[in-house]
Amino acid sequence: MKKKTDKTEKASRTGPEIDKHSGVETTGHEWDGLKELNNPAPRWWLWIFLLTVIWSIWYWVMYPSWPTLSGHTEGLYGWTQHKQLKEQQAEILQRQQAYLEAFRAMPLDGIAEHEELYRFALAGGASAFKDNCAACHGIDAAGMSHYPNLNDDAWIWGGSLEDIYESIKYGIRSEHNETRYSEMPAFGADGILNRQEILDVTDYVLSLSGLAAENLRGAEIYREQCASCHGMDGRGDRSVGAPDLADAIWLYGSSRDAVYSVIYHSRNGVMPHWDGILSEDRIRQLTLYVHSLGGGE
Ligand code: HEC
Ligand code: HEC
Repeated sequence: MKKKTDKTEKASRTGPEIDKHSGVETTGHEWDGLKELNNPAPRWWLWIFLLTVIWSIWYWVMYPSWPTLSGHTEGLYGWTQHKQLKEQQAEILQRQQAYLEAFRAMPLDGIAEHEELYRFALAGGASAFKDNCAACHGIDAAGMSHYPNLNDDAWIWGGSLEDIYESIKYGIRSEHNETRYSEMPAFGADGILNRQEILDVTDYVLSLSGLAAENLRGAEIYREQCASCHGMDGRGDRSVGAPDLADAIWLYGSSRDAVYSVIYHSRNGVMPHWDGILSEDRIRQLTLYVHSLGGGE
C-alpha cells in the first residue's frame, strides 16, 4: 500500500513521461510494455474536422433538422421534400404542356406523320391502355374470347383513326347517348328460328370458312335472316358492327356449339365509353396507340 503511493507521487513530480526513441510524450497508458504516444492529430485531419463542424452548423440553420415538441426546425431555405416534388412535377408538366398544345392543334393523321408528337402520343396511349383497357383486351391488346384482338386487321367497327376514335370515345352498346349500337336478334330465345333451322344455319356459317360442308337449307335461312347484317357473302358490315363470318377470326368461338349458342341467344358485346372518363387528350393518344398496333387502316 505504501509502495503504490510513492510511485504516483513520483510521477506527478516529474511531469509527463517522454518516450526515449521518438522524444514524444506518452499518455501514460501501457500494455505489455508498449506505451501510447501522445501525438497531436495531423493538421489536414483537423481542418476537415473543423469544416464538417462548420458545414453541419450551416446545415442546421438552412435546412429542416432538429426535432422540436411540435415538429422540427424549418431551416431558412424552407426546403421540404413536398416542395421539391411539386417543383419537379411542375417542370415536367411544363414540358408536357408544350407537346400538348401542338398535339391538340393537329388532326390525328397529322400527328401520325409528325415524328416527335407521334412518339409522345404513343407513350401516353400505351400507358393509358395498360391502365384502362388491358383488363378486357389484354396487356398486349391481343384480346380473348368476347374481347376483340386490336392488333390484327379484322375490325368489327372499323380500323381507321376516325373509326377507332369513335369506338373508344362513345363505346359500343354503352350508356353514352352517341354510342355505337346494333343488336343481333336472339333467333332461338325469341322464337324466330327453330332448333333445326338454327343447326342448319350454323352449318352454313361454318361452311363459309371451310369448317363444315355446304348446307342448302342453311344458305336459304341465311339469305333471309342474316345477310342484311352480315352481307350476302358473310363478309360482315362495319356500319352495324356485324363481324366477318367468313374469316378465321371468331369473337365467340368457332366450335359448332359456340356458333349455335351465338345464333340462339345472340351476344351483344359491351365496350364502355370513355368520353367524360378519360380526357380528350388521352382518348386521342389511345386512338393513335391502338391504330399503331398493326391493324390500323
Ligand atoms: C369492360 C371491357 C372493355 C374495356 C375496359 C375496354 N373494352 Fe374495348 N371492347 C370491348 C368489347 C366487348 C368490344 C367488342 C364490342 C363488340 O362486340 O362490338 C370492344 C371493342 C373495342 C374496339 C373496336 C374493335 C373493332 O374491331 O372495331 C376498340 C377500338 C376498343 N375496344 C378499344 C378499347 C380501348 C382503347 C379501351 C381502353 C380505353 C377499351 N377498348 C376498353 C370491351 C372493353
Ligand atoms: C341486326 C343485325 C344482325 C343480324 C340480322 C344477324 N346478326 Fe349475327 N351478329 C350481329 C352483330 C352486331 C354481331 C356481333 C355481336 C358482338 O359483337 O357482340 C353478330 C355476331 C354474330 C356471330 C358471332 C361471330 C364471332 O366472331 O364470334 C355469328 C356466328 C352470327 N352473328 C351469326 C348470325 C346468323 C347466323 C344470323 C342469321 C340467322 C345473324 N347473325 C343475324 C348482327 C346481326
